[in-house]
Amino acid sequence: MKSFKSLFLFGMVFISVFAQAQFSQKPLPYSKESLEPYIDAATMDIHYNKHHAAYVTNLNKALEGKTDAPKTIEELLANVSKCSPAVRNNGGGHFNHELFWSILSAEKTAPSPKLEKAIIDAFGDVNAMKEAVNKAGLTQFGSGWSWLYVNSDGKLAVCSTPNQDNPLMDVCQCKGIPVLGIDVWEHAYYLKYQNKRADYLNNIWNIINWNQVSENYEMALRKINM
Ligand SMILES: [Fe+2]
Repeated sequence: MKSFKSLFLFGMVFISVFAQAQFSQKPLPYSKESLEPYIDAATMDIHYNKHHAAYVTNLNKALEGKTDAPKTIEELLANVSKCSPAVRNNGGGHFNHELFWSILSAEKTAPSPKLEKAIIDAFGDVNAMKEAVNKAGLTQFGSGWSWLYVNSDGKLAVCSTPNQDNPLMDVCQCKGIPVLGIDVWEHAYYLKYQNKRADYLNNIWNIINWNQVSENYEMALRKINM
């Protein structure tokens, strides 16, 4: 009995010392065909199964042996200035894509009254907010993301970031909690839209999951007020 106890304690110590974060992709919440005609099935397949999957594999590889690294993706990104470029790029890539899949849907939805009011307060109306997000995405040089996020004052704001950066990162110029992120890497639209990023940005508003964005807004407010 004594030796079993010692073995158990040794096991617990071993796990706590050597445990490290292992990240994985959530399954897509819809079929890869369901966002057509706005995002085609082939793009969804390659984007989810190749690009996003590679970010996760490479993030886990970059964290191998780093037992002191934060265990949640949010904590990791909040301290990303202390991490390697591989963790920044692949950790951002993982978080950004998980958010992106979740804020898309074939179902027609609308912003909650609370989110709609916050959008009107910040931008004047919903169309002006969409224009601001599109402009940020369109003017982002090279690959990156366009964001609707809650800043530290609890207000909605828009910005874009290069590569796989996002407003959760301590290295990001626009800091806050993203509620909606649009992927403007060419891999997100090139098969269908070729070089027409503006058409992709205009069309994506047909498949926004406003239920999820509204929920993200509520969660962001709770975190900002904590
Ligand atoms: Fe992407």
